[in-house]
Order: sequence, then structure tokens, then C-alpha cells
Amino acid sequence: MEKLLANQVALITGASSGIGYGVAKALADAGAAVVLNYHSHADAAQQLADEIERAGGAALAVQADVADPAQVDTMFDTCRARFGTVDIVIANSGVQKDSAFADMTLQDWQTVLATNLTGQFLTAQAAVKEFRRRGPHDVSKALGKIICMSSVHEVIPWAGHVNYAASKGGIQMFMKSLAQEVAPERIRVNSIAPGAIRTPINKDAWDTEAAREKLLKLIPYGRVGDVEDIGKAAVWLASDDSDYVVGTTLFVDGGMTLYPGFADNG
Ligand code: NAI
Ligand code: BGC
Repeated sequence: MEKLLANQVALITGASSGIGYGVAKALADAGAAVVLNYHSHADAAQQLADEIERAGGAALAVQADVADPAQVDTMFDTCRARFGTVDIVIANSGVQKDSAFADMTLQDWQTVLATNLTGQFLTAQAAVKEFRRRGPHDVSKALGKIICMSSVHEVIPWAGHVNYAASKGGIQMFMKSLAQEVAPERIRVNSIAPGAIRTPINKDAWDTEAAREKLLKLIPYGRVGDVEDIGKAAVWLASDDSDYVVGTTLFVDGGMTLYPGFADNG
């Protein structure tokens, strides 16, 4: 049976760790050729590319800072040079620089907004330009698909993380406005909003028994998420199985956005 993403090319930013790594693996397993963007961990990205190629897939690791327009352009050029075009773009890179509001440095505010919001702007803009340049492609009903990695914090306020929550709140309207603008060209733009997924970004929240117990109070479904949970959602959202899904945020959060504090209160 033909794989769901056969003959498609996917570019994933921040693919050397965590959710990006898991999504890249899932897309490759679904038959896509994958471009693995990394910022700092070349070895991890290259190892994943080698693993995918050994399994019969196609993969290329490409370094770029998503907050730098020239580097994003070069990344898309490299993708075109190897695979001809791109069909699926996952704007996943993100950072946290947490602190109490009054102590938050301008640098930490700017770094988080530059990576999490401007990075997605630059990545999505390059994607839209490439979909238009390439024109219709018989590998998918859509001209192209963009998936923004948002967070439950696009709706859940988060004290001590004002920069991060502002960036994800920004992604919500960025994604919807862009989706509205390009849907007539059959470009589908959607977001995934993960809850707590076990990755390096939130290690402090799950790597001790005490921390995990505290975290689980926020997750009605009773488990911390794994990158595979997001990978499966990304495959579906990138495939024609979700062809009529446009401008939506898919929450994959074990119920974190159900306000569990209200279950026995209020
Ligand atoms: P992570 O720290 O493993 O991954 C972040 C990735 O972004 C890393 O590969 C890092 O190298 C890359 N990155 C950072 N700055 C970059 C830059 N300037 N240019 C290119 N890449 C850069 O953490 P995780 O959890 O995998 O995060 C991935 C995305 O998922 C982020 O957008 C994060 O906000 C989001 N997310 C994570 C959740 C979680 O519980 N782990 C929950 C909700 C959203
Ligand atoms: C954050 C994680 C956090 C999760 C749930 C994500 O956006 O990056 O640190 O565990 O949201 O609060």
C-alpha cells in the first residue's frame, strides 16, 4: 500500500531534538523525503538523516537560524537543490527564556519573539513563495501545507513565561490570518498546540518524581505526552486525510486546556 506522504518533501525546523525530531521521523515513516533543519546539534540531525536513509528514506540535514532571513532563504535553496521543491513545512523551532516579569531582560524577550514568532513568519513566508513558484503538484490535493508548532500557551496564560506565552498567542492569529489569506490558492495552514510533551525544553517539569506528580495535576488524561503523539498528529495534518482542515489549531494535550483546576472547584 502506498504511504500517506509518498513522493512529498517535508521541511521541519528544529529537527535535531524533541518534537521536531519526532515529527521528522513520523513524516519520513509516512514516506516523505525530509529536510531536517538544526540550529546547534549537527550531530543529532545528521544521525537522524543517516537513520532515515538506512531505512530506505531520503533525508538531508541543513543548518539555519530561523530568525535570520538570509539563512532561511539558503535553507530553502538547499532543499530545492536536493529535492526540487517542498510540499510540507513544519515551523517548529522554539525556545523558552523564563523569568519573573520584572526581571525579564529585553534580550530574553527579543530572543524568544525572534525565534518563536519571527522564525515562523520567515519560514512560512519562504514556504508560500516556494509553493507559488512550483505551482500545482500531483502529490497532494493542496498546493502546499504549513503546520505551525504552537502550544497550549496560545490560550493558557503562563506567569513567569510572559515572553513565551506572548509568542504562542501571536502564533494563533499569525496562523489564522495567513490561513485566511492563502486558502484560496489551496495552501493549507494549521497549527498543532501540544500540551506537556517530554522533551529537553521542559525537562525540569518531568525528570523527577516530584516534578512529574505536580505536572500530572494539570493533565486530566494522566500521562505526560511523547513526541510520537505529536508526530502522528503532524502526519495526519500534512496529509490529504485532513484536506478540508484549514486554519485550525489541533490541541494534542491530554486535556490540559480543559482547565482541570475546575474539576472539583468553582
Ligand atoms: P526542544 O528544545 O527539544 O526543541 C526546540 C528546537 O528548536 C531545538 O531543536 C532547537 O535547536 C531549535 N531552535 C532553537 N532556536 C532556533 C533557531 N534560532 N533556529 C533554528 N532552530 C532553533 O523542545 P521541543 O519541546 O521539542 O520544542 C519544539 C516546539 O514545540 C517549540 O516551538 C515549543 O515551543 C513547542 N512546544 C513544546 C511543548 C513541550 O511540552 N515540549 C509543548 C508545546 C509546544
Ligand atoms: C512549554 C513546556 C510546557 C508545556 C505545557 C509548552 O509550550 O514549552 O515547557 O511543559 O507547554 O505547559
